[in-house]
Amino acid sequence: MEILSAEFVVSNTKVEKCPQDNLPEYAFIGRSNVGKSSLINMLTKRPKLAMTSSTPGKTLLINHFQVNKEWYLVDLPGYGYASRGKKQVEKIQQIIEDYILEREQMTNLFVLIDCRLEPQKIDLEFMEWLGENGVPFSIIFTKADKLTSGKAKDNVNKYLRKLAEQWEELPPYFISSSEKKTGRNEILDYIDSINRSLKTQDS
Ligand code: GTP
Ligand code: MG
Repeated sequence: MEILSAEFVVSNTKVEKCPQDNLPEYAFIGRSNVGKSSLINMLTKRPKLAMTSSTPGKTLLINHFQVNKEWYLVDLPGYGYASRGKKQVEKIQQIIEDYILEREQMTNLFVLIDCRLEPQKIDLEFMEWLGENGVPFSIIFTKADKLTSGKAKDNVNKYLRKLAEQWEELPPYFISSSEKKTGRNEILDYIDSINRSLKTQDS
């Protein structure tokens, strides 16, 4: 899929205030600093579209970016950044939960996992919660450029084996690097295939 346009539309903390035009949307979630905002910039080839930072806790709002005038990429705040303080953590948690559970046009949630890490409890529990709530999701293993491709694949396979202990069927998954643009075509093709299937359902 070609990206012909990508524009920032709105940032806010409330689901009710998100765009009302009913276009399908694809949201990005995961621990702070895992690379959600960078991935949005990589996919759209707009390096400054979503704000990124080497310090965790950069994205604090629900950010809508309209692509090709037909669908949205949604950048969400990260979870699991404890040094924010309890109140702020709870507030962010609420924003994330409300968006995920209430936003009907959210057709797929991408859960980002740093491909270098062992499976973390916080991510496993988060995906379990998604499953319990029937939220459609896929996984993107990020920062693949930080490992050799063999090591990245080994880690991903290890992760998938861990997931298989918990899940009967594994979610679709991708390996990405925003630095090297790895995974871009695969992720965009996947989004495109969902967009197409939604269109056939509509007609
Ligand atoms: P929050 O908004 O704080 O939740 O973080 P985020 O998940 O949006 O992360 P962000 O995209 O801001 O990236 C965090 C840091 O990781 C930045 O310093 C990025 O440059 C770096 N980074 C993101 N993706 C990659 C990648 O694929 N490879 C490498 N080497 N660095 C990356
Ligand atoms: Mg961010």
